[in-house]
Amino acid sequence: MKELNIHIIGLGNLGKAFLNGFLNTNSSDFKNYFCYETNIQLAKQIENNYNIEVKTDIDIIDSGILLLCIKPQVVNEFLQSNKSKVREDVLICSPVAGLSIDHISRTLSNKVIRVMPNLLIENNNGFIPYTKNYEGDYLNFIEKNLQKLGTVKEFDESIFPLITALSGSGPAWFYELSSQLVKVGSELGLSEENSELVVKELVKSLPGLISDNESFSALVSKVKSPKGTTEAGLNSLELDSFDKIIYNAINKATNRSIEISKELESE
Ligand SMILES: NC(=O)c1ccc[n+]([C@@H]2O[C@H](COP(=O)([O-])OP(=O)(O)OC[C@H]3O[C@@H](n4cnc5c(N)ncnc54)[C@H](OP(=O)(O)O)[C@@H]3O)[C@@H](O)[C@H]2O)c1
Repeated sequence: MKELNIHIIGLGNLGKAFLNGFLNTNSSDFKNYFCYETNIQLAKQIENNYNIEVKTDIDIIDSGILLLCIKPQVVNEFLQSNKSKVREDVLICSPVAGLSIDHISRTLSNKVIRVMPNLLIENNNGFIPYTKNYEGDYLNFIEKNLQKLGTVKEFDESIFPLITALSGSGPAWFYELSSQLVKVGSELGLSEENSELVVKELVKSLPGLISDNESFSALVSKVKSPKGTTEAGLNSLELDSFDKIIYNAINKATNRSIEISKELESE
Protein backbone atom coordinates (compact mmCIF):
# COMPACT_ATOMS: atom_id res chain seq x y z
CA MET A 1 0.00 0.00 0.00
CA LYS A 2 1.21 3.51 -0.88
CA GLU A 3 2.60 5.42 2.14
CA LEU A 4 0.70 8.53 3.16
CA ASN A 5 2.17 11.97 2.67
CA ILE A 6 2.42 13.63 6.07
CA HIS A 7 2.75 17.41 6.22
CA ILE A 8 4.03 18.55 9.62
CA ILE A 9 3.32 22.22 10.39
CA GLY A 10 5.66 23.43 13.15
CA LEU A 11 8.79 21.55 14.17
CA GLY A 12 9.07 22.58 17.81
CA ASN A 13 8.88 20.10 20.67
CA LEU A 14 5.90 18.12 19.44
CA GLY A 15 6.41 18.39 15.66
CA LYS A 16 9.94 17.03 16.08
CA ALA A 17 8.69 14.26 18.36
CA PHE A 18 6.15 13.19 15.69
CA LEU A 19 8.82 13.32 12.98
CA ASN A 20 11.28 11.23 15.02
CA GLY A 21 8.61 8.71 15.99
CA PHE A 22 7.48 8.27 12.37
CA LEU A 23 11.04 8.03 11.06
CA ASN A 24 11.94 5.35 13.64
CA THR A 25 9.32 3.11 12.07
CA ASN A 26 10.07 4.01 8.49
CA SER A 27 13.82 3.35 8.23
CA SER A 28 14.66 7.06 8.04
CA ASP A 29 12.88 7.42 4.73
CA PHE A 30 11.98 11.08 4.28
CA LYS A 31 10.11 10.85 1.01
CA ASN A 32 6.63 11.02 2.58
CA TYR A 33 7.36 13.78 5.10
CA PHE A 34 6.94 17.46 4.31
CA CYS A 35 8.06 19.90 6.97
CA TYR A 36 7.14 23.55 7.56
CA GLU A 37 8.63 25.86 10.18
CA THR A 38 8.54 29.64 10.42
CA ASN A 39 11.39 29.94 12.92
CA ILE A 40 14.29 30.23 10.46
CA GLN A 41 16.96 29.19 12.96
CA LEU A 42 15.03 26.05 13.92
CA ALA A 43 14.26 25.30 10.27
CA LYS A 44 18.01 25.45 9.44
CA GLN A 45 18.82 23.21 12.39
CA ILE A 46 16.27 20.60 11.23
CA GLU A 47 17.52 20.81 7.63
CA ASN A 48 21.08 20.18 8.80
CA ASN A 49 20.30 17.46 11.33
CA TYR A 50 17.81 15.53 9.20
CA ASN A 51 18.96 16.39 5.69
CA ILE A 52 15.40 17.32 4.79
CA GLU A 53 13.94 20.42 3.14
CA VAL A 54 11.99 22.65 5.51
CA LYS A 55 9.67 25.28 4.00
CA THR A 56 8.07 28.27 5.69
CA ASP A 57 4.71 28.07 3.87
CA ILE A 58 2.54 25.30 2.54
CA ASP A 59 1.65 24.92 -1.14
CA ILE A 60 -1.58 23.24 -2.25
CA ILE A 61 -2.01 20.02 -0.25
CA ASP A 62 -4.41 17.66 -2.01
CA SER A 63 -4.04 14.38 -0.11
CA GLY A 64 -2.58 12.80 3.00
CA ILE A 65 -2.33 14.27 6.48
CA LEU A 66 -1.92 17.82 7.72
CA LEU A 67 -0.44 17.59 11.22
CA LEU A 68 -0.93 20.86 13.05
CA CYS A 69 1.92 21.23 15.58
CA ILE A 70 1.67 24.95 16.27
CA LYS A 71 0.69 26.87 19.40
CA PRO A 72 -2.99 27.73 20.04
CA GLN A 73 -2.15 31.45 19.77
CA VAL A 74 -1.28 31.20 16.06
CA VAL A 75 -3.71 28.52 14.95
CA ASN A 76 -6.60 30.80 13.86
CA GLU A 77 -4.26 32.82 11.69
CA PHE A 78 -2.85 29.64 10.12
CA LEU A 79 -6.33 28.25 9.36
CA GLN A 80 -7.58 31.52 7.85
CA SER A 81 -4.53 32.10 5.64
CA ASN A 82 -4.27 28.52 4.40
CA LYS A 83 -7.87 27.30 4.09
CA SER A 84 -7.86 27.58 0.29
CA LYS A 85 -4.68 25.48 0.02
CA VAL A 86 -5.98 22.43 1.91
CA ARG A 87 -8.13 20.17 -0.29
CA GLU A 88 -11.12 18.29 1.09
CA ASP A 89 -9.50 14.81 0.95
CA VAL A 90 -6.77 15.83 3.42
CA LEU A 91 -7.14 14.52 6.96
CA ILE A 92 -6.43 17.19 9.58
CA CYS A 93 -4.71 15.88 12.70
CA SER A 94 -4.58 18.39 15.54
CA PRO A 95 -2.80 18.08 18.89
CA VAL A 96 -3.38 21.78 19.63
CA ALA A 97 -4.46 22.20 23.26
CA GLY A 98 -7.97 23.65 23.53
CA LEU A 99 -8.68 23.57 19.77
CA SER A 100 -12.02 21.80 19.29
CA ILE A 101 -12.99 19.85 16.18
CA ASP A 102 -16.01 22.15 15.79
CA HIS A 103 -13.74 25.17 15.72
CA ILE A 104 -11.60 23.69 12.92
CA SER A 105 -14.76 22.66 11.06
CA ARG A 106 -15.94 26.25 10.91
CA THR A 107 -13.01 26.96 8.57
CA LEU A 108 -12.33 23.60 6.90
CA SER A 109 -14.87 20.93 5.97
CA ASN A 110 -12.25 18.16 6.13
CA LYS A 111 -12.25 15.08 8.31
CA VAL A 112 -10.51 15.92 11.61
CA ILE A 113 -8.82 13.76 14.23
CA ARG A 114 -7.95 15.53 17.47
CA VAL A 115 -5.10 13.94 19.47
CA MET A 116 -3.38 14.74 22.76
CA PRO A 117 -0.08 12.85 22.75
CA ASN A 118 2.85 13.32 25.09
CA LEU A 119 6.46 13.67 23.99
CA LEU A 120 7.15 9.93 24.48
CA ILE A 121 5.83 9.42 20.93
CA GLU A 122 9.37 10.39 19.95
CA ASN A 123 10.53 6.95 21.18
CA ASN A 124 7.36 5.19 19.95
CA ASN A 125 6.36 4.75 23.56
CA GLY A 126 3.71 7.45 23.89
CA PHE A 127 0.06 7.48 24.79
CA ILE A 128 -2.24 9.03 22.19
CA PRO A 129 -5.80 9.78 23.26
CA TYR A 130 -7.90 10.77 20.25
CA THR A 131 -11.36 11.81 19.15
CA LYS A 132 -12.61 12.27 15.56
CA ASN A 133 -15.51 13.52 13.46
CA TYR A 134 -15.71 10.60 11.01
CA GLU A 135 -16.47 6.89 11.01
CA GLY A 136 -13.82 4.19 10.65
CA ASP A 137 -10.09 4.67 10.07
CA TYR A 138 -9.88 7.12 7.15
CA LEU A 139 -6.60 6.60 5.22
CA ASN A 140 -5.70 3.94 7.82
CA PHE A 141 -3.96 6.75 9.66
CA ILE A 142 -4.65 5.33 13.13
CA GLU A 143 -3.53 1.80 12.32
CA LYS A 144 -0.62 2.60 10.02
CA ASN A 145 0.77 5.72 11.69
CA LEU A 146 -0.56 6.64 15.14
CA GLN A 147 -0.34 3.11 16.54
CA LYS A 148 3.34 3.04 15.61
CA LEU A 149 3.93 5.91 18.04
CA GLY A 150 2.50 4.17 21.09
CA THR A 151 -0.81 3.18 22.65
CA VAL A 152 -3.92 4.82 21.18
CA LYS A 153 -7.34 5.16 22.81
CA GLU A 154 -10.51 6.95 21.73
CA PHE A 155 -12.20 9.31 24.20
CA ASP A 156 -15.20 11.60 24.05
CA GLU A 157 -14.09 15.11 23.12
CA SER A 158 -15.78 16.54 26.25
CA ILE A 159 -13.10 14.92 28.45
CA PHE A 160 -10.17 16.34 26.42
CA PRO A 161 -9.40 19.22 28.82
CA LEU A 162 -8.75 16.70 31.60
CA ILE A 163 -6.85 14.36 29.25
CA THR A 164 -4.73 17.34 28.20
CA ALA A 165 -3.89 18.11 31.84
CA LEU A 166 -3.21 14.51 32.88
CA SER A 167 -1.53 13.10 29.79
CA GLY A 168 -0.42 15.89 27.42
CA SER A 169 1.16 17.88 30.26
CA GLY A 170 1.83 14.65 32.21
CA PRO A 171 5.59 14.36 31.70
CA ALA A 172 5.98 17.83 33.26
CA TRP A 173 4.45 16.67 36.59
CA PHE A 174 7.03 13.89 36.84
CA TYR A 175 9.91 16.09 35.63
CA GLU A 176 9.00 18.72 38.24
CA LEU A 177 8.79 16.14 41.04
CA SER A 178 12.14 14.70 39.93
CA SER A 179 13.70 18.13 39.77
CA GLN A 180 12.52 18.84 43.35
CA LEU A 181 13.99 15.48 44.49
CA VAL A 182 17.34 16.42 42.92
CA LYS A 183 17.23 19.79 44.70
CA VAL A 184 16.51 18.22 48.11
CA GLY A 185 19.18 15.56 47.55
CA SER A 186 21.81 18.20 47.00
CA GLU A 187 20.55 20.38 49.89
CA LEU A 188 20.78 17.41 52.28
CA GLY A 189 24.29 16.26 51.42
CA LEU A 190 24.76 14.87 47.90
CA SER A 191 26.66 16.78 45.24
CA GLU A 192 24.31 18.15 42.56
CA GLU A 193 25.80 15.75 40.05
CA ASN A 194 25.27 12.69 42.25
CA SER A 195 21.80 13.81 43.24
CA GLU A 196 20.85 14.13 39.53
CA LEU A 197 22.37 10.68 38.88
CA VAL A 198 20.50 9.00 41.76
CA VAL A 199 17.13 10.46 40.72
CA LYS A 200 17.68 9.74 37.00
CA GLU A 201 18.53 6.09 37.76
CA LEU A 202 15.44 5.88 39.98
CA VAL A 203 13.15 7.28 37.28
CA LYS A 204 14.70 5.04 34.61
CA SER A 205 13.94 1.96 36.73
CA LEU A 206 10.24 2.78 37.22
CA PRO A 207 8.83 1.47 33.88
CA GLY A 208 10.20 -1.97 34.78
CA LEU A 209 8.31 -1.90 38.08
CA ILE A 210 4.95 -0.82 36.68
CA SER A 211 2.55 -3.45 35.41
CA ASP A 212 -0.88 -3.18 33.75
CA ASN A 213 -2.65 -5.21 36.45
CA GLU A 214 -1.31 -3.49 39.56
CA SER A 215 -2.58 -0.09 40.75
CA PHE A 216 -0.20 2.69 41.75
CA SER A 217 -1.51 2.60 45.31
CA ALA A 218 -0.69 -1.13 45.47
CA LEU A 219 2.83 -0.31 44.26
CA VAL A 220 3.20 2.30 47.04
CA SER A 221 2.24 -0.36 49.62
CA LYS A 222 4.95 -2.65 48.25
CA VAL A 223 7.68 -0.07 48.95
CA LYS A 224 6.49 0.92 52.40
CA SER A 225 6.95 -1.14 55.56
CA PRO A 226 5.42 -0.39 59.00
CA LYS A 227 7.35 2.32 60.86
CA GLY A 228 9.91 2.39 58.06
CA THR A 229 11.55 5.28 56.17
CA THR A 230 9.07 5.34 53.28
CA GLU A 231 6.11 5.43 55.66
CA ALA A 232 7.68 8.36 57.54
CA GLY A 233 8.02 10.30 54.29
CA LEU A 234 4.51 9.40 53.07
CA ASN A 235 3.01 10.53 56.40
CA SER A 236 4.79 13.84 55.99
CA LEU A 237 3.35 14.20 52.44
CA GLU A 238 -0.12 13.55 53.84
CA LEU A 239 0.33 16.11 56.62
CA ASP A 240 1.44 18.68 54.03
CA SER A 241 -1.67 17.94 51.90
CA PHE A 242 0.19 16.46 48.92
CA ASP A 243 -3.18 15.23 47.54
CA LYS A 244 -4.56 18.77 47.54
CA ILE A 245 -1.46 20.16 45.81
CA ILE A 246 -1.79 17.62 43.00
CA TYR A 247 -5.58 18.09 42.73
CA ASN A 248 -5.18 21.86 42.41
CA ALA A 249 -2.45 21.57 39.75
CA ILE A 250 -4.48 19.19 37.53
CA ASN A 251 -7.63 21.23 38.06
CA LYS A 252 -5.82 24.46 37.11
CA ALA A 253 -4.32 22.85 33.99
CA THR A 254 -7.75 21.45 32.99
CA ASN A 255 -9.38 24.86 33.44
CA ARG A 256 -6.62 26.50 31.42
CA SER A 257 -7.40 24.15 28.54
CA ILE A 258 -11.07 25.19 28.72
CA GLU A 259 -10.03 28.86 28.83
CA ILE A 260 -7.82 28.43 25.72
CA SER A 261 -10.85 27.01 23.85
CA LYS A 262 -12.87 30.09 24.82
CA GLU A 263 -10.04 32.42 23.78
CA LEU A 264 -9.83 30.69 20.38
CA GLU A 265 -13.60 31.01 19.94
CA SER A 266 -13.60 34.73 20.71
CA GLU A 267 -10.65 35.71 18.46
N1 LIG B 1 4.92 19.98 23.81
C1 LIG B 1 4.09 19.03 24.22
O1 LIG B 1 4.44 18.16 25.04
C2 LIG B 1 2.69 18.97 23.67
C3 LIG B 1 1.85 17.88 24.03
C4 LIG B 1 0.56 17.83 23.50
C5 LIG B 1 0.09 18.83 22.66
N2 LIG B 1 0.92 19.89 22.35
C6 LIG B 1 0.41 20.93 21.44
O2 LIG B 1 1.25 20.93 20.30
C7 LIG B 1 1.36 22.25 19.77
C8 LIG B 1 2.84 22.59 19.58
O3 LIG B 1 3.49 22.59 20.85
P1 LIG B 1 5.09 22.67 20.94
O4 LIG B 1 5.44 22.48 22.37
O5 LIG B 1 5.70 21.77 19.91
O6 LIG B 1 5.29 24.20 20.51
P2 LIG B 1 6.65 24.87 19.96
O7 LIG B 1 7.82 24.15 20.53
O8 LIG B 1 6.50 26.34 20.19
O9 LIG B 1 6.62 24.57 18.39
C9 LIG B 1 5.79 25.23 17.47
C10 LIG B 1 6.66 25.66 16.30
O10 LIG B 1 5.84 26.01 15.21
C11 LIG B 1 6.36 27.20 14.60
N3 LIG B 1 5.30 27.87 13.84
C12 LIG B 1 4.42 28.83 14.25
N4 LIG B 1 3.60 29.15 13.24
C13 LIG B 1 3.94 28.37 12.18
C14 LIG B 1 3.44 28.26 10.85
N5 LIG B 1 2.42 28.99 10.39
N6 LIG B 1 4.02 27.35 10.01
C15 LIG B 1 5.07 26.61 10.43
N7 LIG B 1 5.60 26.69 11.69
C16 LIG B 1 5.02 27.55 12.56
C17 LIG B 1 6.86 27.99 15.80
O11 LIG B 1 7.76 28.99 15.40
P3 LIG B 1 7.85 30.33 16.32
O12 LIG B 1 8.44 29.91 17.62
O13 LIG B 1 8.72 31.23 15.52
O14 LIG B 1 6.44 30.82 16.48
C18 LIG B 1 7.51 26.89 16.63
O15 LIG B 1 8.85 26.66 16.24
C19 LIG B 1 0.66 23.18 20.77
O16 LIG B 1 -0.58 23.55 20.23
C20 LIG B 1 0.46 22.33 22.01
O17 LIG B 1 -0.77 22.63 22.65
C21 LIG B 1 2.20 19.98 22.82
